[in-house]
Amino acid sequence: MRRLPEPRPAGEVPSLRWGILGTGWIAHQFVSTLLANTAQRVVAVGSRTMGRSREFADQFGIDAAFGSYEDLVAADVDVVYVATGHLDHLEHARLALEAGKAVLVEKPMTPRLADTAALVELARTRGLFCMEALWTLALPRYDVVRQVLDSGLLGTIESVSAEMGEYLVDHHRAMDPAQAGGAMNDLGTYPLMFVDWVLPGLDVVAATGQRHATGSVGQFAALLTDDAARQVTVHASMVADTPTTAVIAGSDATLVLDGPFYHPGPVEVRFRDGEVLRWEEERVAHVGLFHEAVEVARCIGAGLTESPLRPLDATLSTIALMERARDLMGDPLP
Ligand SMILES: NC(=O)c1ccc[n+]([C@@H]2O[C@H](COP(=O)([O-])OP(=O)(O)OC[C@H]3O[C@@H](n4cnc5c(N)ncnc54)[C@H](OP(=O)(O)O)[C@@H]3O)[C@@H](O)[C@H]2O)c1
Repeated sequence: MRRLPEPRPAGEVPSLRWGILGTGWIAHQFVSTLLANTAQRVVAVGSRTMGRSREFADQFGIDAAFGSYEDLVAADVDVVYVATGHLDHLEHARLALEAGKAVLVEKPMTPRLADTAALVELARTRGLFCMEALWTLALPRYDVVRQVLDSGLLGTIESVSAEMGEYLVDHHRAMDPAQAGGAMNDLGTYPLMFVDWVLPGLDVVAATGQRHATGSVGQFAALLTDDAARQVTVHASMVADTPTTAVIAGSDATLVLDGPFYHPGPVEVRFRDGEVLRWEEERVAHVGLFHEAVEVARCIGAGLTESPLRPLDATLSTIALMERARDLMGDPLP
């Protein structure tokens, strides 16, 4: 009888002392779910201004509030979560690594391949844990997908598609060209990560993007393929909401991730003979961020410097695809 696997539990993990670098939207989501759902401790926060740092610390009951990122990385923490804008990840992750701290860096690790490679080299040279915060890959939902792929249940994977559309035209940062806004960095990174995870080694052969009045690319589509004629399509849009689904099509069965495919949610496998298997998970959106923190604690506790769920070579590979797609569509970074 066919059945879908259950996600594997993380097991016991150490309770790390986290330092939060930057006090924006994602930092709020991350800390609130960390405190609500794990035994991880948030012991320090750093902001460009003491006022915002103090406010964040008071909101979450954090002991130490610092008015500079330099002071934060010097504090007694086990790991620094870098939650600033895309273009600042390089400087702020470097600051933490140079202070001898492990890092979890928001996605994309940096928008440029050369900058990401520099961070990877720094972390590896210093023997420090470093991970891109692609939380999706740490979700229980994705452990189900991982086991389905490993089992060969789908047969030969022939095509993969992933699309993501969220109306973000009025967002203060996401569409600002000066902050590397546009569909690639906030959204495109997810579908490109997904297809590169399922079918690594494919290259972008075509990409086209349409510029929005803000000056950023509002939406883009990319086609990836390889010598084995496998096909991947990716689409990301900030000018319209789309179902945000992902599909892995194999010779025996097709796996469908209802939208948003990068959040907690169900997994469905449809066989060619008509049988449908479904694994259900509550759609709790960014509450699921805590799983990546547990993965960081698990890795650091086990003495690992990279997560097997999101190794640094996988980060480099996705950033290379992003860069290639941007080159093809004429979307230079500031
Ligand atoms: N994993 C996810 O689901 C997810 C979702 C959204 C965003 N993200 C990623 O998280 C990162 C941050 O996104 P966000 O939406 O949280 O951004 P945000 O709300 O704008 O927060 C960014 C923070 O960066 C700090 N910062 C440092 N220099 C800055 C400058 N020159 N201008 C503005 N802020 C500056 C600020 O913190 P201080 O004022 O405290 O210094 C600010 O609060 C992005 O790389 C994005 O891709 C991930």
